[in-house]
Amino acid sequence: MKAIVINAAPRMEAGNTQMILTPFLVGMRHEGAKIDIALLARKEINRCEGCFTCYAATPGSCIHHDDMEALIDRIRGVDTMILATPVYLDGMTSLAKIFVDRLVAFMDPHFVADKVGVRHPLRWKFPEKLFLVSVCGYPGLHNFDPLLLHMKAIAKNLHTEFCGALLRPGVYSLLLKKKYPDRIREVMDAIRGAGEELVRHGRVSAGTFDAVASDICSDRELIDTANAYWDRELEKSADQPA
Ligand SMILES: Cc1cc2nc3c(=O)[nH]c(=O)nc-3n(C[C@H](O)[C@H](O)[C@H](O)COP(=O)(O)O)c2cc1C
Repeated sequence: MKAIVINAAPRMEAGNTQMILTPFLVGMRHEGAKIDIALLARKEINRCEGCFTCYAATPGSCIHHDDMEALIDRIRGVDTMILATPVYLDGMTSLAKIFVDRLVAFMDPHFVADKVGVRHPLRWKFPEKLFLVSVCGYPGLHNFDPLLLHMKAIAKNLHTEFCGALLRPGVYSLLLKKKYPDRIREVMDAIRGAGEELVRHGRVSAGTFDAVASDICSDRELIDTANAYWDRELEKSADQPA
């Protein structure tokens, strides 16, 4: 497998998205995957202006001559694209959305009707598989529902297969390492296993998916821990001169 990881987390390597991405990529590499990583927060990628210049005036070429040009070349060279984004207000981050909009350069302007629906044909090959890596703060897998729906729709639009997701709800519970070292190790091992499975089988099994998302602590404890943290932070800021 040749994959590109698009890390769309503004906090990049310092964040929880990277915390689960790291063991996942260890697992993928263990099975022989070649992985290219792009950190969107370090790139200059301007938003789509909706001018359709890339459709007709200069086919495939945007009015913005920015880092997206090189990124498109990298995407054209792989068979799998992995989008890594935390949940921000029930969807992908703005970095991810700006990037996704600029993928419109892959589309030929004509409309075609096929068994999937009406969509644009592609002007260049897009990776055959699209995979999502995501984390969110609230407990419960339902917090990923809008993002999953969006990813499936994007996959249809780009003629690719949405081949699954690695999702970690209640991600702050993975920071309770002193209290739950064994449970957290199990989850981290499952994340690594998910990376291995993706390369070996082209998908992550239901058992591994569930193990990755499994609770570390009760919702009550997660809520109390988060509130205690924010109370401490608020106290610190109350001490600051205005
Ligand atoms: C602007 C913003 C919006 C967020 N919205 C949600 C949300 O709707 N649901 C949720 O469960 N978590 C939400 N979160 C929590 C993030 O998913 C969580 O903090 C995650 O760890 C951020 O990724 P990072 O650690 O890689 O930066 C939000 C965080 C931010 C900063």
